[in-house]
Amino acid sequence: MDRIAVIGGTGLAQLDGLEDLRPIQMSTPFGEPSAEVVSGRLGRREVLFLARHGRPHRIPPHKINYLANLWALREAGAQAIIAVNAVGGIHPVMGAGHFCVPHQIIDYTWGRPGTFFETDLEFVTHVDFTQPYDETLRQHLLQALTDIGAPHSARGVYAATQGPRLESAAEIQRLERDGCDIVGMTGMPEAALARELELPYACLALVVNPAAGKASGIITMEAIEAVMASGMQQVKGVLQRALSAI
Ligand code: HPA
Repeated sequence: MDRIAVIGGTGLAQLDGLEDLRPIQMSTPFGEPSAEVVSGRLGRREVLFLARHGRPHRIPPHKINYLANLWALREAGAQAIIAVNAVGGIHPVMGAGHFCVPHQIIDYTWGRPGTFFETDLEFVTHVDFTQPYDETLRQHLLQALTDIGAPHSARGVYAATQGPRLESAAEIQRLERDGCDIVGMTGMPEAALARELELPYACLALVVNPAAGKASGIITMEAIEAVMASGMQQVKGVLQRALSAI
Protein backbone atom coordinates (compact mmCIF):
# COMPACT_ATOMS: atom_id res chain seq x y z
CA MET A 1 0.00 0.00 0.00
CA ASP A 2 1.56 3.29 -1.02
CA ARG A 3 -0.76 6.18 -0.47
CA ILE A 4 -2.91 6.04 2.63
CA ALA A 5 -5.65 8.56 3.24
CA VAL A 6 -6.81 9.75 6.62
CA ILE A 7 -10.31 11.17 7.03
CA GLY A 8 -10.22 13.36 10.11
CA GLY A 9 -13.39 13.80 12.11
CA THR A 10 -14.37 16.23 14.85
CA GLY A 11 -11.23 17.43 16.62
CA LEU A 12 -8.88 16.41 13.83
CA ALA A 13 -8.95 19.06 11.12
CA GLN A 14 -5.30 18.62 10.19
CA LEU A 15 -2.56 16.08 10.64
CA ASP A 16 0.55 17.35 12.40
CA GLY A 17 3.93 16.03 11.35
CA LEU A 18 3.21 15.93 7.62
CA GLU A 19 5.96 17.47 5.48
CA ASP A 20 5.89 18.93 1.97
CA LEU A 21 2.21 19.77 2.30
CA ARG A 22 0.39 20.19 -0.98
CA PRO A 23 -3.29 21.08 -1.28
CA ILE A 24 -5.11 19.27 -4.07
CA GLN A 25 -8.27 20.97 -5.32
CA MET A 26 -10.68 18.27 -6.39
CA SER A 27 -14.12 18.39 -7.86
CA THR A 28 -16.01 15.20 -8.54
CA PRO A 29 -19.05 14.05 -10.52
CA PHE A 30 -20.83 14.11 -7.14
CA GLY A 31 -19.94 17.67 -6.19
CA GLU A 32 -17.36 19.18 -3.89
CA PRO A 33 -15.64 17.24 -1.13
CA SER A 34 -15.81 18.65 2.42
CA ALA A 35 -12.44 20.41 1.99
CA GLU A 36 -9.39 20.30 -0.19
CA VAL A 37 -7.46 17.06 -0.02
CA VAL A 38 -4.02 17.71 1.46
CA SER A 39 -1.11 15.57 0.40
CA GLY A 40 2.00 15.31 2.56
CA ARG A 41 4.89 13.07 3.50
CA LEU A 42 5.32 11.18 6.72
CA GLY A 43 8.81 9.71 6.54
CA ARG A 44 8.81 7.85 3.22
CA ARG A 45 5.07 7.38 3.15
CA GLU A 46 2.80 9.67 1.17
CA VAL A 47 -0.33 10.51 3.12
CA LEU A 48 -3.54 12.19 2.01
CA PHE A 49 -5.71 14.01 4.49
CA LEU A 50 -9.32 15.17 4.30
CA ALA A 51 -11.23 17.03 7.02
CA ARG A 52 -14.62 15.29 7.02
CA HIS A 53 -16.56 18.24 8.43
CA GLY A 54 -14.72 20.83 6.33
CA ARG A 55 -12.25 23.50 7.36
CA PRO A 56 -13.41 25.28 9.44
CA HIS A 57 -15.54 22.55 10.99
CA ARG A 58 -18.95 23.49 9.57
CA ILE A 59 -20.65 20.53 7.85
CA PRO A 60 -22.97 18.48 10.07
CA PRO A 61 -22.83 14.68 9.77
CA HIS A 62 -26.02 14.29 7.71
CA LYS A 63 -24.93 17.00 5.23
CA ILE A 64 -21.45 15.65 4.49
CA ASN A 65 -20.99 14.77 0.82
CA TYR A 66 -19.64 11.28 1.50
CA LEU A 67 -19.75 10.36 -2.20
CA ALA A 68 -17.57 13.34 -3.17
CA ASN A 69 -15.18 12.74 -0.27
CA LEU A 70 -14.51 9.11 -1.13
CA TRP A 71 -14.34 9.80 -4.85
CA ALA A 72 -11.90 12.68 -4.35
CA LEU A 73 -9.60 10.56 -2.19
CA ARG A 74 -9.57 7.77 -4.74
CA GLU A 75 -8.89 10.24 -7.56
CA ALA A 76 -6.02 11.71 -5.50
CA GLY A 77 -4.50 8.23 -5.42
CA ALA A 78 -5.61 6.80 -2.07
CA GLN A 79 -5.11 3.07 -1.83
CA ALA A 80 -6.49 2.66 1.67
CA ILE A 81 -8.38 4.79 4.17
CA ILE A 82 -8.14 5.27 7.90
CA ALA A 83 -11.15 7.07 9.31
CA VAL A 84 -10.95 8.88 12.63
CA ASN A 85 -14.26 9.24 14.48
CA ALA A 86 -15.28 10.75 17.81
CA VAL A 87 -17.99 8.54 19.33
CA GLY A 88 -20.14 8.01 22.37
CA GLY A 89 -19.54 4.94 24.52
CA ILE A 90 -22.34 2.40 25.04
CA HIS A 91 -20.57 -0.69 26.42
CA PRO A 92 -19.39 -0.16 30.02
CA VAL A 93 -15.75 -0.50 29.01
CA MET A 94 -16.08 2.35 26.48
CA GLY A 95 -15.50 5.22 28.89
CA ALA A 96 -14.39 8.69 27.84
CA GLY A 97 -10.84 8.59 26.50
CA HIS A 98 -11.06 4.91 25.53
CA PHE A 99 -10.25 3.90 21.94
CA CYS A 100 -12.09 1.33 19.88
CA VAL A 101 -11.16 -0.16 16.51
CA PRO A 102 -14.56 -1.50 15.52
CA HIS A 103 -14.95 -4.75 13.62
CA GLN A 104 -18.62 -4.29 12.72
CA ILE A 105 -21.13 -1.54 12.02
CA ILE A 106 -24.90 -1.12 11.97
CA ASP A 107 -26.40 1.65 9.88
CA TYR A 108 -29.26 3.61 11.49
CA THR A 109 -28.89 6.64 9.23
CA TRP A 110 -31.55 7.57 6.71
CA GLY A 111 -31.84 9.71 3.61
CA ARG A 112 -28.11 10.02 2.95
CA PRO A 113 -26.94 9.38 -0.61
CA GLY A 114 -25.13 6.12 0.02
CA THR A 115 -24.04 4.35 -3.15
CA PHE A 116 -22.04 4.90 -6.31
CA PHE A 117 -24.07 2.17 -8.01
CA GLU A 118 -27.23 4.11 -8.81
CA THR A 119 -27.16 5.48 -12.34
CA ASP A 120 -25.63 4.50 -15.69
CA LEU A 121 -25.52 0.88 -14.59
CA GLU A 122 -24.85 -2.00 -16.92
CA PHE A 123 -25.70 -4.41 -14.09
CA VAL A 124 -27.29 -3.99 -10.70
CA THR A 125 -24.38 -4.26 -8.28
CA HIS A 126 -24.36 -5.49 -4.69
CA VAL A 127 -21.00 -5.32 -2.93
CA ASP A 128 -20.16 -7.76 -0.15
CA PHE A 129 -20.07 -5.99 3.22
CA THR A 130 -19.88 -8.97 5.57
CA GLN A 131 -16.70 -7.62 7.12
CA PRO A 132 -16.98 -3.81 6.76
CA TYR A 133 -13.48 -3.08 8.03
CA ASP A 134 -10.12 -4.18 6.63
CA GLU A 135 -8.42 -6.56 9.03
CA THR A 136 -4.83 -5.61 8.10
CA LEU A 137 -5.47 -1.91 8.70
CA ARG A 138 -7.26 -2.76 11.94
CA GLN A 139 -4.27 -4.72 13.19
CA HIS A 140 -1.91 -1.84 12.39
CA LEU A 141 -4.10 0.54 14.38
CA LEU A 142 -4.28 -1.89 17.29
CA GLN A 143 -0.52 -2.36 17.34
CA ALA A 144 -0.02 1.41 17.39
CA LEU A 145 -2.52 1.80 20.24
CA THR A 146 -0.67 -0.90 22.19
CA ASP A 147 2.69 0.76 21.45
CA ILE A 148 1.61 4.09 22.90
CA GLY A 149 -0.15 2.44 25.83
CA ALA A 150 -3.60 3.86 25.02
CA PRO A 151 -6.58 2.06 26.58
CA HIS A 152 -8.47 0.38 23.78
CA SER A 153 -10.82 -2.35 22.62
CA ALA A 154 -9.79 -4.50 19.68
CA ARG A 155 -13.36 -5.10 18.59
CA GLY A 156 -16.63 -3.28 18.79
CA VAL A 157 -19.87 -2.68 16.92
CA TYR A 158 -20.30 0.90 15.70
CA ALA A 159 -23.86 2.25 15.58
CA ALA A 160 -24.11 4.93 12.91
CA THR A 161 -26.93 7.33 13.82
CA GLN A 162 -28.36 10.20 11.86
CA GLY A 163 -27.69 13.18 14.10
CA PRO A 164 -27.00 15.97 14.38
CA ARG A 165 -28.77 15.69 17.71
CA LEU A 166 -27.48 13.21 20.24
CA GLU A 167 -29.61 10.17 21.07
CA SER A 168 -32.26 9.70 23.75
CA ALA A 169 -31.50 7.27 26.58
CA ALA A 170 -34.10 4.85 25.17
CA GLU A 171 -32.48 4.98 21.74
CA ILE A 172 -29.14 4.08 23.31
CA GLN A 173 -30.79 1.19 25.19
CA ARG A 174 -32.12 -0.06 21.88
CA LEU A 175 -28.67 0.18 20.28
CA GLU A 176 -27.27 -1.74 23.24
CA ARG A 177 -29.87 -4.49 22.76
CA ASP A 178 -28.80 -4.60 19.12
CA GLY A 179 -25.25 -5.35 20.28
CA CYS A 180 -23.71 -1.93 19.60
CA ASP A 181 -20.71 -0.81 21.66
CA ILE A 182 -20.12 2.72 20.38
CA VAL A 183 -22.26 5.32 18.63
CA GLY A 184 -21.32 7.98 16.11
CA MET A 185 -22.87 9.93 13.26
CA THR A 186 -20.33 9.60 10.46
CA GLY A 187 -19.45 5.91 10.11
CA MET A 188 -22.01 5.43 7.34
CA PRO A 189 -22.26 5.60 4.40
CA GLU A 190 -18.50 6.25 4.46
CA ALA A 191 -17.50 2.64 5.16
CA ALA A 192 -19.83 1.26 2.50
CA LEU A 193 -18.68 3.75 -0.13
CA ALA A 194 -15.05 2.81 0.51
CA ARG A 195 -16.03 -0.81 -0.08
CA GLU A 196 -17.78 0.10 -3.34
CA LEU A 197 -14.55 1.74 -4.48
CA GLU A 198 -12.61 -1.32 -3.28
CA LEU A 199 -10.58 0.79 -0.88
CA PRO A 200 -9.53 -1.02 2.32
CA TYR A 201 -11.00 0.98 5.19
CA ALA A 202 -10.67 0.96 8.98
CA CYS A 203 -11.88 3.21 11.77
CA LEU A 204 -10.04 4.59 14.77
CA ALA A 205 -12.76 5.66 17.19
CA LEU A 206 -12.15 7.81 20.26
CA VAL A 207 -14.87 7.74 22.90
CA VAL A 208 -15.50 11.36 23.88
CA ASN A 209 -18.56 10.87 26.12
CA PRO A 210 -20.65 8.15 27.71
CA ALA A 211 -23.68 7.75 25.41
CA ALA A 212 -27.03 9.16 26.52
CA GLY A 213 -28.21 7.63 29.78
CA LYS A 214 -24.87 5.93 30.44
CA ALA A 215 -23.74 8.53 32.97
CA SER A 216 -25.63 10.79 35.32
CA GLY A 217 -26.76 14.09 33.87
CA ILE A 218 -26.80 15.37 30.33
CA ILE A 219 -24.06 15.35 27.70
CA THR A 220 -22.33 18.73 27.42
CA MET A 221 -20.08 20.01 24.65
CA GLU A 222 -17.62 21.25 27.31
CA ALA A 223 -17.12 17.70 28.63
CA ILE A 224 -16.74 16.34 25.09
CA GLU A 225 -14.21 19.02 24.14
CA ALA A 226 -12.08 18.33 27.21
CA VAL A 227 -11.76 14.64 26.31
CA MET A 228 -11.23 15.50 22.66
CA ALA A 229 -8.28 17.78 23.37
CA SER A 230 -6.14 15.10 25.03
CA GLY A 231 -7.54 12.20 23.01
CA MET A 232 -6.70 13.75 19.65
CA GLN A 233 -3.07 14.13 20.72
CA GLN A 234 -3.03 10.37 21.18
CA VAL A 235 -4.79 9.91 17.85
CA LYS A 236 -1.95 11.73 16.13
CA GLY A 237 0.59 9.45 17.80
CA VAL A 238 -1.37 6.36 16.76
CA LEU A 239 -1.68 7.55 13.18
CA GLN A 240 2.01 8.38 12.87
CA ARG A 241 2.97 4.91 14.06
CA ALA A 242 0.34 3.05 12.08
CA LEU A 243 1.00 4.98 8.88
CA SER A 244 4.73 4.31 8.97
CA ALA A 245 4.15 0.61 9.69
CA ILE A 246 1.53 -0.11 7.00
N1 HPA B 1 -23.77 9.94 19.92
C1 HPA B 1 -23.58 10.06 18.59
N2 HPA B 1 -22.48 10.56 18.05
C2 HPA B 1 -21.51 10.98 18.88
C3 HPA B 1 -21.65 10.89 20.27
C4 HPA B 1 -22.83 10.34 20.81
O1 HPA B 1 -23.02 10.23 22.04
N3 HPA B 1 -20.51 11.39 20.80
C5 HPA B 1 -19.72 11.77 19.76
N4 HPA B 1 -20.32 11.51 18.59
